[in-house]
Order: sequence, then C-alpha cells, then structure tokens
Amino acid sequence: MRTQVVIIGSGPSGLMLGALLSKSGIDNIIIDRVDRDYILGRIRAGVLEVGAIGLMDRIGAGERMHREGLLHDGFSLSFSGRRHRIALKELTGTSVMVYGQTELTRDLMDHREQSGAKTIYNAGNVTPHEFDGEKPYVTYERDGVTHRIDCDFIAGCDGYHGPSRAAVQGKGLQTYEKVYPFGWLGVLADVPPVHHELIYANHARGFALCSQRSPTRSRYYVQVPLTDKVEEWSDDAFWDEIRRRLPEDVAQSMVTGPSIEKSIAPLRSFVAEPLRFGRLFLVGDAGHIVPPTGAKGLNLAASDVHYLFAGLEEFYGEKSKAGIDAYSARALRRIWKAERFSWSMTMLMHRFPDDGEFGQKVQEAELDYLASSVPAQTAMAENYVGLPY
Ligand code: FAD
Ligand code: DHB
Repeated sequence: MRTQVVIIGSGPSGLMLGALLSKSGIDNIIIDRVDRDYILGRIRAGVLEVGAIGLMDRIGAGERMHREGLLHDGFSLSFSGRRHRIALKELTGTSVMVYGQTELTRDLMDHREQSGAKTIYNAGNVTPHEFDGEKPYVTYERDGVTHRIDCDFIAGCDGYHGPSRAAVQGKGLQTYEKVYPFGWLGVLADVPPVHHELIYANHARGFALCSQRSPTRSRYYVQVPLTDKVEEWSDDAFWDEIRRRLPEDVAQSMVTGPSIEKSIAPLRSFVAEPLRFGRLFLVGDAGHIVPPTGAKGLNLAASDVHYLFAGLEEFYGEKSKAGIDAYSARALRRIWKAERFSWSMTMLMHRFPDDGEFGQKVQEAELDYLASSVPAQTAMAENYVGLPY
C-alpha cells in the first residue's frame, strides 16, 4: 500500500488531522491497535476551547457539537467553605464548551466513514521505519500477516504509550517529567449536574471536581491515593466522599445514582522535545501529557494538529518545507504554557501528602488573593479558555 501520510492512532488528534488532510486532498490512512467501540468506551476529557471548536467546524464535523454541547461562561472554585466564580466570558470575552471527548471522537469517526477515507483497526505491532530518510514506511500485523504502507510522512498520534515516541528514543529525544503523588477517581452517572457550571474544589480531604456531559449526565472526580483500587470504591463511598469535599449547599443538592463508568487516572506532566524527527511527527499525548486539572489534554492535541496540518498543507500546496520545519517549535511554545497552567492549577487545588498544613494554608491564601484580584482572575480565565494559536 502507499499513501501520503500514515497516521498512527485513531484518537482525537489522529482523527482531526486525518479529516483536515482529506479535506485538502492529501491522502492518508489511520491505523489503530484497537477498534472503534473500544476507543469510544474510553471516558476522558470534557471541556473544549474555542480553538478545538473551530477545528471541528473547519473539518465540517461540528454540527452535533453545536447542537448538544453546553457553552459555559464561567466556573467556580470552592475553598475554605466558600465559592468564588471565575467569570470566563466577562473577563476574556470567550466561553468554553462542555462536550465529551467520546462524542467528539464519535463525530470524527462518522465523518471519516462518510468521507470514505481508510482506517485500519485492530492492527498489531504497528512500527514506523526509515523516517530519517525520504522514504518512510509503517508496518503492522493483521490476521498473522505483516503489511507495509509506504508514505511521505508519519504522524505519531498514538498517545502516551504508543510506538512513535518509542521509535525516536536515543535519536536526540529529551523528556521532561513530573509525576504527582495521587490520581483522580472519576464517575460518570445519569443524574442531573449539581450545578449549571463546573466546580473545582480545594478541600482538606483532597480535590474534587463537579463536571457534566449533558443536563442529565454528570461527571465527577475526587483525588485519591495512587494505592487505591477502583474495585474498592463502591458508588455509595464515592458519593459520600465527594459530598464531604463540597460546600454544604452544593453537597445537599447533589443527586446521586448508579455509576455507568468508574476509573482511576494517574496525574502526570510530561513533555518530549523535539516533536519532529525527520519525517515522523509526535502529536497530542504522544508528545506531551498534562494533569487534567486545567482541562488542556484534548485541547493541546487540537492545537498540535492545527500547526502540523498547516505545515503539511504548505508542503503539498506550495512545495515549501518551512511549515513542517517550524512545527515542533510552534507547537512547543503553546504546549509549555499549557503545561505551566495545568501544573499551577494542580498545585493550587490538591492535597500534597508531604506539604502538610503549611501547604494548605498557602493554597488558601492564594485562593483568597485570587478571589479579591480581578487581574489574577483574568490571568486564570485567559489560560483556562485557551491561549491563541
Ligand atoms: P489518545 O486519545 O490517547 O489516542 C491515541 C490512539 O492511539 C488511541 O486510539 C490508541 O488506541 C492508539 N494507539 C496506542 N498505541 C498504539 C499502537 N501501538 N498502535 C496503533 N495505535 C495505537 N484530558 C482532559 O482534558 N480531561 C480529562 O479528564 C482527561 N482524562 C483522561 C483520562 C485518561 C485515563 C487519559 C489517558 C487521558 C485523559 N485526558 C484528559 C487527556 C485527553 O484525553 C488526551 O489528551 C487526549 O485523548 C489526547 O488525544 P490523542 O489523540 O493525542 O491521544
Ligand atoms: C473534565 C475533566 C477535566 O479534567 C476538567 O478539568 C474539566 C472537566 C470532564 O471530564 O468533564
């Protein structure tokens, strides 16, 4: 087989890139290790920045998102028994949209199916080759047979554990990492959200987040030790714990019900540099991870795609390498700012086992300052709605 761009990974970054390339007449094949239903079973991010919304529109896959997504003009921080609203729209002129990654992925998969572009699911041992030269190719196995796809470029959209970053190990790859000493236990339930906007809670028992997917579906998280096992958390124990971490009035109005998904995710900050190795590019989680506190993971995948697509379009349209040469530096500039924001939100809102009461007092002082300072709120709001591409 031959194509222009092989995309490894059918998550949001691979699907968005594939759609933009196809729309510009650039042939591409997506290969994933698992199948469509497996990918759609993963419950992940929920908040879209204006840049990600714009990308979905540009692709022509934004119709359901605009119909069903919920525009949020603010969110609340709860701490020391009180609540303070960060007025995103008032402070920045911009809102965010609550629309689940699962739904966005489904829309992109449906769009791809309708376009007739090729996707290979359930591919084993996917491996990029010869990307240092002019003629890269990717191999994979299916039904015991090894296949080869020759191409011009390989886009590594294969997440944190995928083969693309593994293939550039020892080729000048530098990594920067911070691992946090806790995880997030998340629950999805068909109950109405406790509040019309998101609530991020700092509490002596640990962080909590009240999010949502629709007027009848809620997504909640609590900070848990990394040693906790999801099987040890009954639904009742989860509801009791999250209510303890919220202001009294919020806790009392919370509607609970059986969970339809429950999982624990570790928290990590990670950046790989550079994001280009010859004709192989790292995109989205393959190149960087943020802790979820700033709601940036999926949105960074979108901005990477924006920069890489611009470079590939320029390469094929104008025969210029300037855009692909600039990809890594352009993407990393924005990535590091989102890393900084996600790290600072994480430090501000969680209990750190080693920081004790001093750490908590400092957090409370910072939150108190934030609540009294419009410039501080504006800086938080500007980062939360997303910095410009
Ligand atoms: P992914 O969505 O990871 O997609 C990568 C794709 O590559 C997958 O389909 C995978 O099957 C495929 N792949 C992997 N290995 C191979 C292989 N060997 N061969 C072929 N294909 C392969 N962000 C938030 O903002 N908020 C959240 O609450 C949040 N929760 C998260 C919870 C978890 C458990 C995880 C892992 C991430 C979470 N994120 C969250 C981050 C956000 O979901 C990611 O940033 C986003 O999915 C990145 O998209 P991506 O397409 O780059 O990678
Ligand atoms: C969600 C996840 C986040 O990490 C976040 O900051 C906001 C919302 C969510 O899953 O809804």
